[in-house]
Amino acid sequence: MSTTPVTGRAYLNEVVTRDGFQSEPRFIPTEDKIALIDLLSGAGYHAIEVTSFTSPKAIPMLADAEAVMAGITRHPAVEYMALVPNLRGAERAARAGVDAFNLVMSVSEAHNQANLRMSRNQSLQQLQEVIRLAENAGIPVNVSLSTSFGCPLEDRIDPGEVLTWGQRFVDMGVRGISLCDTTGMADPAAVGRLCQQALSRFGDVEITLHFHNTRGMGLANVVTALQAGIRHFDASLGGLGGCPYAPGATGNICTEELAHMLALMGFDTGMDLGRLLEGAARVEALAGRPVPSQLLRAGPVDQPRQGACNG
Ligand code: COA
Ligand code: ZN
Repeated sequence: MSTTPVTGRAYLNEVVTRDGFQSEPRFIPTEDKIALIDLLSGAGYHAIEVTSFTSPKAIPMLADAEAVMAGITRHPAVEYMALVPNLRGAERAARAGVDAFNLVMSVSEAHNQANLRMSRNQSLQQLQEVIRLAENAGIPVNVSLSTSFGCPLEDRIDPGEVLTWGQRFVDMGVRGISLCDTTGMADPAAVGRLCQQALSRFGDVEITLHFHNTRGMGLANVVTALQAGIRHFDASLGGLGGCPYAPGATGNICTEELAHMLALMGFDTGMDLGRLLEGAARVEALAGRPVPSQLLRAGPVDQPRQGACNG
């Protein structure tokens, strides 16, 4: 285990309006998406993944990407990024004025085909062109590697393959790589190993961890990632989320639970927990059903809600 001190600054990226809303059964109205992002902009985030510039046939819930980008009020300290799957999406995102691209492809061939309708090599070729476009436009690029810890459509994901795909993008000069546990198959031991390898191999490249809590290991995985030296995390308010093209996908780790845990551990996240809980309650109202967040039910440890104690 690494000797990295488990304190200091940690950086949170909000993904509820992208990973969360893409998989909701009902379309969240554009003005509600804008109002939610505006509420969150002052909450202390490092970045907000506003939307995705995907095909509206593939992801109809985010067909209003341009309108959402145009409608939000930007906070100077926040990076407003968007998911980009191909060149067409990159051109749209650049025109919409996003601060950064989050490119996506899967380490799993089967999931890449299901999600993006391309082979991994076709994705690589398209994304190479996207990186060139971004470079010319002065837009920083992060690459999200889906299914980095397992894929429901394939037997096993080899961690060596994850590093090989990551290296290809690092060699193209990207700013960051996200290791994404798309369907919650990561366990703390596997996370610790892959994070250590990625950090030692990719040097100064920013490594972000993207966990789904599908099997209840989400925050345990965060702790192991912290121990390895990771400081950037994606999370979704209320715990909404999931890829519509990954069987069995469920929500991301909850932003408010992550910020609450990090604060108790002594990390400086810069996050306003009260505003996050307000945001999570808003997300629950927009979804129209209870969200997975346990903190929303129980309240923070220093302000427990009455009736939250069951035993
Ligand atoms: N934005 C808008 N429209 C797009 C687009 C984009 N980025 N990329 C393709 N299209 C349109 C094409 O113009 C075409 O439209 P038409 O049918 O009216 O002519 C249609 O989509 C099909 O284009 P094609 O190039 O054949 O794409 P595809 O159907 O093979 O889909 C993707 C490829 C990548 C665009 C699509 O699979 C996608 O958007 N996937 C995103 C999945 C995702 O976000 N998953 C969750 C996050 S992990
Ligand atoms: Zn995800």
